[in-house]
Amino acid sequence: MAEQLQKVSYQRMKDGTEADYAFMAENAVAYQQLTPGRLLTYVDTVLEGIPGEHVDTREHSLQSATRAFRDGANEEMVVAALLHDIGVPFAPDNHDQFAGEIIRPYVGWDTYWVVRHHGLFQGYYYFHYVGKDRNARDKYRGHPAFQQCVDFCEKWDQESFDPDYDTMPLSAFEPMVHRVFAREPWAERTKQP
Ligand SMILES: [Fe+2]
Ligand SMILES: [Fe+2]
Repeated sequence: MAEQLQKVSYQRMKDGTEADYAFMAENAVAYQQLTPGRLLTYVDTVLEGIPGEHVDTREHSLQSATRAFRDGANEEMVVAALLHDIGVPFAPDNHDQFAGEIIRPYVGWDTYWVVRHHGLFQGYYYFHYVGKDRNARDKYRGHPAFQQCVDFCEKWDQESFDPDYDTMPLSAFEPMVHRVFAREPWAERTKQP
């Protein structure tokens, strides 16, 4: 019987063996299973907003997800709404791309596209006040997920800065996040036809 590794033999990857990489592949499975929990903990405890709005980004995210859920959005879209601004503290200039890539392997191509582009689409509500073109999103007119992104912003994102809204708790979304991230990555749904 092969000896059970506790640690790999290498300190430079090029010195690794087949046994090392088999061992690491096994460890990676368990490691990756913690991803949804990490994201939830992050939303719950760290996700902060730019000061000045009535709700922080944690509350805004929960509220967006609540509205999506109450409007009957499918589960991956509810999860997308919950996580759509998760990149704000790390990637302020491309936070939509950041969040889009996190969910991309597990959701439909259109859900990914909506999250990936919501920053520009959301600009419709304020770009004209900050010297930018509020209609910049029009360059994507004709894309099959264009209207979905318009609706995401209109019904759930731009709407969700209300401190008095009856927002659902994070615990309500936990099983959804776990289910979406337990899916087979890069399945057919992720490919735009
Ligand atoms: Fe955003
Ligand atoms: Fe948002």
